Amino acid sequence: MTGATASRVNRWVDAAWAERFLSERDEIPHRADGFAALLEVLPERVGRVLDLGTGDGFALSMVLGERPGASGVGVDFQPAMLARAAERFDRDDRVELIEHDLDLRLPDSLGIFDLVVSSFAIHHCSPDRQRSLYAEVYDLLEPGGMFVNLEHVASPTRALHEEFLGAIGKTPEHDDPSNQLVEVVPLLGWLVEAGFTDADCLWKWRELALLTARRP
Ligand SMILES: C[S@@+](CC[C@H](N)C(=O)[O-])C[C@H]1O[C@@H](n2cnc3c(N)ncnc32)[C@H](O)[C@@H]1O
Repeated sequence: MTGATASRVNRWVDAAWAERFLSERDEIPHRADGFAALLEVLPERVGRVLDLGTGDGFALSMVLGERPGASGVGVDFQPAMLARAAERFDRDDRVELIEHDLDLRLPDSLGIFDLVVSSFAIHHCSPDRQRSLYAEVYDLLEPGGMFVNLEHVASPTRALHEEFLGAIGKTPEHDDPSNQLVEVVPLLGWLVEAGFTDADCLWKWRELALLTARRP
């Protein structure tokens, strides 16, 4: 199943949808707090970092800003996003950008990393794929490597979901049909099932959550 051909909706195949997100994302409440929490948990030494669903490279650039000696790979399936990322990283030979659909197995050619990050991207895959992707991330990490996933997670109830939408200035009619949200507890369980240790939710505001785990 690919994002482009699946019967379910993934609006991110549409360049205009992606561009609209880029123009609006700074207005998402507490988004900056989530990224601050992500930066706070970065390992002291990072050699190679992978950013899944990198978009315009926002999270990858933050990580490289904090760990300038690292090199990075950004993966996304949306060409318009990758073009924005290429602009952002112009002439930065630490960065490689790869077009890949996260609904498909991660390519072996990516190599091995000591840090895998993702911000607000993996929840566009089906829950089954999120679970298998966590296992693939584990396989891509060096022993001791970290997975840091700033994610959009499910509310436990419809009422809380609608409160979340209200808090970000949206109504249920304007909910993103691409979202395949999963609650924090099963997500943490899938990390443990994949073999990770220290799986935890270290920051959360309503449906925005920072999930972290380490490969033993
Ligand atoms: C909400 S944006 C987040 C972008 C960026 N990580 C950020 O935090 O600003 C979601 C990103 O996931 C990407 N995405 C969605 N579904 C994908 C898929 N199946 N494969 C690869 N990328 C996907 C979109 O193209 C988009 O760049």
